[in-house]
Amino acid sequence: MPSSSRSAKDFFRPLAVGAPTPLTEIPARPSRAIHFFDPSNEKMAAKIPQMVGTVDVLLGNLEDAIKADNKVAAREGLVRIARETDFGPTQLWTRVNALDSPWVLDDLITLVPEIGDKLDVIMVPKVQGAEDIHYVDRLLAQLEAKAGLERPILVHAILETARGVANVEEICGASPRMQGLSLGPADLAADRRMKTTRVGGGHPGYLVREDPPRIDGAANLEATRATFQQDLWHYTIARMVDACAMHGIYPYYGPFGDIADTVACEDQFRNAFLLGCVGTWSLHPKQIAIANKVFSPSIEDIRHARRVVAAMGDGTGAVMLDGKMEDDASLKQCLVLVELAEQLAAIDPELKKQYDALEEQA
Ligand code: GLV
Ligand code: MG
Repeated sequence: MPSSSRSAKDFFRPLAVGAPTPLTEIPARPSRAIHFFDPSNEKMAAKIPQMVGTVDVLLGNLEDAIKADNKVAAREGLVRIARETDFGPTQLWTRVNALDSPWVLDDLITLVPEIGDKLDVIMVPKVQGAEDIHYVDRLLAQLEAKAGLERPILVHAILETARGVANVEEICGASPRMQGLSLGPADLAADRRMKTTRVGGGHPGYLVREDPPRIDGAANLEATRATFQQDLWHYTIARMVDACAMHGIYPYYGPFGDIADTVACEDQFRNAFLLGCVGTWSLHPKQIAIANKVFSPSIEDIRHARRVVAAMGDGTGAVMLDGKMEDDASLKQCLVLVELAEQLAAIDPELKKQYDALEEQA
């Protein structure tokens, strides 16, 4: 939201003379999986050209997981990869170092002039409040102007501090560049002093237990009782989803560190999808397939959604379908799925075939 000391009209003026005009809307580009790679790792870097078209977003990571001694090599590697690769339909993002680190200034002043025309989104870690976004916003405008860029580079914030969560709405509204938010469960857990030691996902100790059975009114506390593990991240993701929806930007789950546990990974991704997230991070090629499956509406959902759209005619009133009441509000939910399916079909020929087959059957 524009701050009170700034006119709404100024919000969409460039922050530096000659910088590109800010966008009034963030394009809904599919970004089901944001695949992280280490640009200083030559084996990984060599695989990037073959990954183009197989994943919605490739992200050159410069922050955590890159050793201090490799920070410069990672930055230079990203410049080289970006220059040499034709990314076609795949977006190129980067995660720069934290704003209080010794590397971030060089990250930004190198990347924007060298490869700013290829970078779609810059992910900023450990964002604490609107002031962090304002700093990046002005600096990017100055660098874009100097580099003669024609479109603004968008900004994505990782929510991974307690203060960031407390300020989530103002972060989302801090700049027209804001593209979205990711959950950073590992840093967030540490900052909140949660008692977990994993990167994302659940914990067997975070559970509810069913009430004891009663015999003649007395609770049998010796009986075996079922327990149900709860989602540690529900509260934060729900807050992110509301803040992003309010500002017309996109929420994402983040990293799921247990690469071998593809089942729990899929569950965690699906919870985020159902709550409103549009994508997630991938830390291993295995997770790309999981993310693409989870963050694409299922064929069954699209079949149903299209039936509701057809049955609702002008979109008002109510109809009964398979014994269930459908009305203006259920139509709106169905349209969310149908629109998402159309965006995904435009970039994913396999998915398009499956969605198109439904039309032929209808
Ligand atoms: C990601 O950066 C995290 O801290 O989980
Ligand atoms: Mg982190």
